Amino acid sequence: MHVTADARDVLATATDLLVIPVLSVGDKKRPPGRLAGLDRLLGGGIQAAIASGDFRGERDQKLVLYPDGALPAKRILLLGIGKDNRVDAEALRRVGGTAVREAAARKAKKVTVAATPSRRLRAGAVGQALAEGAVLGNYRFDKYKEKPDDAPSAVAAVQLSFDKGADLRAARAGAKRGTILAESQNLARDLSNAPGNALPPAQLAREAQKMAKEVGLRVRVLGVPELRKRKMGAILAVGGGSANPPRLVALEHRPKRRKDAAPLCFVGKGVTFDSGGISIKPSGAMDEMKHDMSGAATVVGALRACALLDVPYPVVGIIGAAENLPSATAYRPGDIVTSASGKTIEVLNTDAEGRVVLADALHYAKTEYDPCAIVDLATLTGACVVALGRWASGLFANHTRLSDRIRKAGDATAELAWPLPLLDGHKKAVKSPVADVKNTGAGREAGSSTAAAFLAAFAGDTPWAHLDIAGTAWTSHTSPTQPRGATGVGVRLLLELLADWKSPKL
Ligand code: BES
Ligand code: MN
Ligand code: ZN
Repeated sequence: MHVTADARDVLATATDLLVIPVLSVGDKKRPPGRLAGLDRLLGGGIQAAIASGDFRGERDQKLVLYPDGALPAKRILLLGIGKDNRVDAEALRRVGGTAVREAAARKAKKVTVAATPSRRLRAGAVGQALAEGAVLGNYRFDKYKEKPDDAPSAVAAVQLSFDKGADLRAARAGAKRGTILAESQNLARDLSNAPGNALPPAQLAREAQKMAKEVGLRVRVLGVPELRKRKMGAILAVGGGSANPPRLVALEHRPKRRKDAAPLCFVGKGVTFDSGGISIKPSGAMDEMKHDMSGAATVVGALRACALLDVPYPVVGIIGAAENLPSATAYRPGDIVTSASGKTIEVLNTDAEGRVVLADALHYAKTEYDPCAIVDLATLTGACVVALGRWASGLFANHTRLSDRIRKAGDATAELAWPLPLLDGHKKAVKSPVADVKNTGAGREAGSSTAAAFLAAFAGDTPWAHLDIAGTAWTSHTSPTQPRGATGVGVRLLLELLADWKSPKL
């Protein structure tokens, strides 16, 4: 799907579906401003819909009109966006998503969206948000269906139509950035939605390599012999129960400028399927654990965007990929494993495997890249889903300013990240009587904080933040930009974080 931005008179544009966002009309009885002119051309239907109360421009309200030759557009969709002071980037993403979904439902090939910048949202931001929404809304995961049930994406082109006099250069740059970001998020969704049998660790590594080749990133893949050589006893323990061996992948974005600067490292949990291992999970909803590599998927998507957007800082994406299965070779409760850092881990529950994989991935990031900061993403704890539900990712850090910036990036992208505590008590709770740390905390108490405390021990004094995306990585609640399944959460957040990146040595 192609998104373009132009300046033209939408009422003179030939298109299959013309989408016009409409602000709440409040207590007005007649079509405000430019709608009045359109209403005259169409013979009064809009006036009637407003007067009857059927359409008042409230958020997500829709009115479809058929000009029948009065205008070159085949159909017009008036789409309510609510009150002026509530229209933000997320409202425009929804407009973009609704536009392509309504178009696809009508087998419309070409959609035109009337784009109106405001004082709050300049042309660049409007172009970006509409493009993000359109590309995200057009996402489907149907490659395993012989014949998709709903019409396959029929939308070939989305035309963002700005007023004459709008800053078209900014609008076009925004639309391009939004398209790249959303396509990268859709790649993360594809990887996360892929079932465990189709995406074992080696295949996840190959997908990362394939992406790297397409966009020109350097990539390193460590297989079992290299993991052994580097004494990565933690990731090897988790992967040991599966016939599909683990991998560690590093994707390197090295821009020409500033290539000697210390990179920012993104680290993703890539458990391609989490059965719980010997501490096996209940079977209800175990299928959802195919998404337990969503952190890794986000890192792959984010590095794609770094390359295509020419981010002017070095960024390295690292994924720890392993499959957690019970078998005769699986690691057991009570095992003590030695991680690459030399720290020993007492395994009290083989289902707390994500932190064990990340122990070696974080150490690799630190020792191989000497990063200015690390941000890890992981579907780490059910406790985080209890605490925050699907509305925000849990945010933990050993560095307040890094945490604040991530939170800000979350707000800007509507991928909310909410700070949760990481206390000395949580750190004490992961001390083991027989090893350096243990992989469980204090039973059900503060489960996401004790998991973060475990990771903190491996992050050491590198500025580090951890996003627990257990509640946000997949969903059954659909929206105009989100079908059921993987969300690809974090790709846009990480790139927003990079938009004004300064080293947090700060
Ligand atoms: N991948 C799960 C966490 C998870 C659960 C993510 C539900 C999304 C939805 C993780 O590996 C896990 O099993 N964590 C355990 C830790 C516990 C054994 C200390 C959990 O949260 O129950
Ligand atoms: Mn688990
Ligand atoms: Zn897991």
